[in-house]
Amino acid sequence: MSSVLFTYRRCAPSAAQILLLSVTWFCSTGGLDSIAHKSPKLAPYFGTKTRYEEVNPFLLANPLMVTRKNDLLPNTCTPLQIVSVIRHGTRYPTKEQIKKLKKMYGLIKKSTSNSDLVKELQSWNMWYEDWMDGQLVKKGEEDMKNLAFRLASLFPSLFTLDKLQKCQMSFVTSSKHRCVDSTKAFIHGLAHTYLQLPIPTEDELEDVPCRDPLVNDTLMRFFDHCEKFVAQVEDNDTAMHELEKFKEGPEMRRVMHKIAELLSIPQGELNAGLVQVAFFTCSFELAINNDANSAWCRLFDEEDAKVLEYLNDLKQYWKRGYGYDINSRSSCNLFQHIFQHLDNAVSESKSVCNFVSSRSQQISTPVVMQFGHAETLLPLLALMGLFKDEKPLMADNFSTHLDQKFRSGRMVPYASNLVFVLYHCDLAKSPQEEYQVQMLLNENLLPFPHSHQSVCPFEDLKKQYRHLLDSCHVSDECQLTKVAHASEDEL
Ligand SMILES: *[C@@H]1O[C@H](CO)[C@@H](O)[C@H](O)[C@H]1NC(C)=O
Ligand SMILES: *[C@@H]1O[C@H](CO)[C@@H](O)[C@H](O)[C@H]1NC(C)=O
Ligand SMILES: *[C@@H]1O[C@H](CO)[C@@H](O)[C@H](O)[C@H]1NC(C)=O
Repeated sequence: MSSVLFTYRRCAPSAAQILLLSVTWFCSTGGLDSIAHKSPKLAPYFGTKTRYEEVNPFLLANPLMVTRKNDLLPNTCTPLQIVSVIRHGTRYPTKEQIKKLKKMYGLIKKSTSNSDLVKELQSWNMWYEDWMDGQLVKKGEEDMKNLAFRLASLFPSLFTLDKLQKCQMSFVTSSKHRCVDSTKAFIHGLAHTYLQLPIPTEDELEDVPCRDPLVNDTLMRFFDHCEKFVAQVEDNDTAMHELEKFKEGPEMRRVMHKIAELLSIPQGELNAGLVQVAFFTCSFELAINNDANSAWCRLFDEEDAKVLEYLNDLKQYWKRGYGYDINSRSSCNLFQHIFQHLDNAVSESKSVCNFVSSRSQQISTPVVMQFGHAETLLPLLALMGLFKDEKPLMADNFSTHLDQKFRSGRMVPYASNLVFVLYHCDLAKSPQEEYQVQMLLNENLLPFPHSHQSVCPFEDLKKQYRHLLDSCHVSDECQLTKVAHASEDEL
């Protein structure tokens, strides 16, 4: 029975254990070599296909390292709850991408060039297969296990064995395979790496309580369920006109011309999509196989990479970000859901008398983990007003794009995570408001857009977002007919 299974050694690992784990990892991966190993020069430009390590490079040397600087609230505050939205880990290309890659590879195979690069590409082993279709890769599982370890190490009072076994942690996921698998890997990392429970066999796993993620696409894939978004943006051929314009513009033409020359294939046979898939293949070979010297990467220099990054960012901006209001409005439900959790925790905390230490015991769900997509996180970040440039991203803004705030590779790499932390602060010992909130994006403090501060009283935060909490109803926002009614009324 599961109860027998769960009479394990308890408690979080000590600092010495963490050190030991880190040292073991360090030695088994070649120690100094891996520290000296620098990030490949194209790696920061892969947009939504960026490795998590690009935003936190110290993880290349030690994926379990937690670098909390001096930013935690003073120790008169204790965390009561964390509510997170997490993108799945590293994945295989989708079926669509594999199809394009086959086409690109076919073109290269036909090339009569004698260059070393072309010969190397021609003898490259096309190992991507249709069944892979966007699934989580092994490295993606590691992304999640390691993230679980680091988040739990940051908030040891929340990620306890007791809370896990009492089902006080909530795990919700999108129905996509890569997200369900990410959730399982996260739980695995928490239970077996961090809490050091023995790993149950497949059969035993059936009996382990609290380990089944709840699938909820209404929450985690809201974009599929928003009729207005689908009609006006997703299925609308003209909605991406800035993107189309950039594909035809001078920067992309230069890159396509260069690639056609390098490969000795007629330029007429190449298009932006095929050049992009070659660039993505470079990203996949790095993210999946840790191959930094793939021939695919040698097709591009840093200047090309910046152009292709902008191509990706333009798409994200217009399809998921600030480009159209409906992109972000469709995430209202998720936003309100997050605040409901925080609200509940505050109420539960208020209902105890004044033993501060027991307050965190009172919270029914101190840990809320929700797994989705870049397409889940980007609209949410935009809804909250984060990474907002003063002017929209247009086809002719390539020259300034490195200065722009909206760069998807910095915001939503694989395994990216947005974490809300609710604290209770002891008023007797500090003059602060009783309940405070911090946000972390990819484990770094994320200042609130209204105050540029990294901490905000919960009540102030609710005031800031009152309009979203009170007057954004997805059923109305996403209704296609609403616009028609409004204009009829006006007539
Ligand atoms: C999904 O989440 C929404 C929002 O919280 C909720 O209303 C709905 O009942 C959930 N669906 C399932 C299947 O749990
Ligand atoms: C498609 O997008 C364009 C540009 O935003 C817009 O003018 C048009 O109304 C949209 N079409 C539909 C069917 O929503
Ligand atoms: C983009 O370019 C246009 C036209 O050149 C310019 O007016 C606008 O300010 C630029 N936007 C950004 C974000 O730089």
